[in-house]
Amino acid sequence: MSPTADGTTGNATYEFVVVANRLPVDRVTGESGESSWKRAPGGLVTALAPVMENADGAWVGWHGAPDEEVAPFDNNGISIVPVPLSADEVNLYYEGFSNSTLWPLYHDVIVAPEFHRNWWDSYKTVNRRFAEATAATAAEGATVWVQDYQLQLVPKLLRDARPDLKIGFFNHIPFPSVDLFAQLPWRKRVLEGLLGADLIGFQRPSDASNFLRAVRRVLGFTVRGQQIHVQDGNGYPQRIARAESHPISIDTAQISRMAKDPEIQARAKEIRRGLGNPDVVLLGVDRLDYTKGIRHRLKAFGELIDDGRLEVGGAALVQVASPSRERVGEYMRLRDEIELTVGRINGEHDTVAHTAIRYLHHSYPFEEMVALYLAADVMLVTALRDGMNLVAKEYIAAHVDNKGALILSEFAGAADQLKHAFLVNPHDIDELKDKIVEAIHLPEPEATRRMRIMRRQISTNDVARWSRKFLESLAKTDAELSLDARNRADEERAGHAEADRTRPKDAE
Ligand code: G6P
Repeated sequence: MSPTADGTTGNATYEFVVVANRLPVDRVTGESGESSWKRAPGGLVTALAPVMENADGAWVGWHGAPDEEVAPFDNNGISIVPVPLSADEVNLYYEGFSNSTLWPLYHDVIVAPEFHRNWWDSYKTVNRRFAEATAATAAEGATVWVQDYQLQLVPKLLRDARPDLKIGFFNHIPFPSVDLFAQLPWRKRVLEGLLGADLIGFQRPSDASNFLRAVRRVLGFTVRGQQIHVQDGNGYPQRIARAESHPISIDTAQISRMAKDPEIQARAKEIRRGLGNPDVVLLGVDRLDYTKGIRHRLKAFGELIDDGRLEVGGAALVQVASPSRERVGEYMRLRDEIELTVGRINGEHDTVAHTAIRYLHHSYPFEEMVALYLAADVMLVTALRDGMNLVAKEYIAAHVDNKGALILSEFAGAADQLKHAFLVNPHDIDELKDKIVEAIHLPEPEATRRMRIMRRQISTNDVARWSRKFLESLAKTDAELSLDARNRADEERAGHAEADRTRPKDAE
């Protein structure tokens, strides 16, 4: 899939285009002041970069700075197409509608979403700009894969401009129940925007069914199984769109390889030494976000020390909270609360030699993250709501030694796949405390057994499989789809016949 010259515009066009709010690169400034682009850390980028490198595709996205036009460029086999945002748009579209309306609404209103008409106007303007940039980048009949909640209007805008394209959409965050979604004043426009896609992917089956219910309730469209009968503006049948769950994953093999690297293993030992070689290292790794349940985790850990069930020096919690959305009010408040709590716990319990919580408000290179995973006996993922949570999967991938234990919130999508973790309701602080203690004292053979099963799960279901499955489903033709529907109907009929045959007589 190499770039081909587009005769009319002179632009390179691509058979495969990913569209996401963020580009997969960050700008770095060298010692002599020169700037270059380096692969960005983070869930979405980590997930899609390997797919893009193999496909030689283009990635349309914002480069992260306001009021600046950047010309398209190449980075490690990916053609980068930057979309500019003004400072106003960063405020209204990104910090406003995306992260203060949609983000809290889609995460079950952990904090109250704000609805402002000027934020919505900016969201529409920016989505249109992304759609135009994509339309100019995609070759005739290309496959376009739009990512995440910031760009929900792009599928329809793109279909209107380029009906020749195959369009997929993937929502990385949860999709809320229709009772919450219905609060959104622009709920119809958002659903219509998404339904411009042929296939709309979600993390969990419950996200897909929430979406299907919203489509039926808000738009009144017919829904059969996973298929939606999309109508045009006059109520006439237009086409079929589908909603499916495709849980995202990680590049498991790459992380396992890194975890075997002697330098990273040495670094893991050094991290433990730096903490004063405690018996138990607990670890939390999150963007500093109110969905992650960082406060709940700190409370549980602090109480365990208060209760004398853990002792400073014997146990240490390392909490990496990487800076995120720092100009949004709720994030500023959260940071203050977390830092106050950490300060209090450490102030009360630290000794001159040892700290209770090593709090790190930084982002780190991925090598350092793998070393931290390796150094940790217990990983704490206590999200109150999370589309997937790739950190949980990364921790498992790093434990090539089959040691360690994972505490995992049942409200993270990863709980569907990692059933051998210690699943918790993070709101239940007593349960969380008990599970932490249980995880610490888990006998090694049982820890190894659980870790092996979870490692097998993520080795088979890695990110390459995720994207392959999504793209295979997207590529299905109408004929294959109707065949699928017929097969499903046959299977259902066969299932009923079998149930009839085996049903005990007295149950009838
Ligand atoms: C989540 C979202 C992504 C987003 C990332 C970082 O994982 O699903 O779309 O890129 O957070 O957030 P940011 O606002 O910095 O892009």
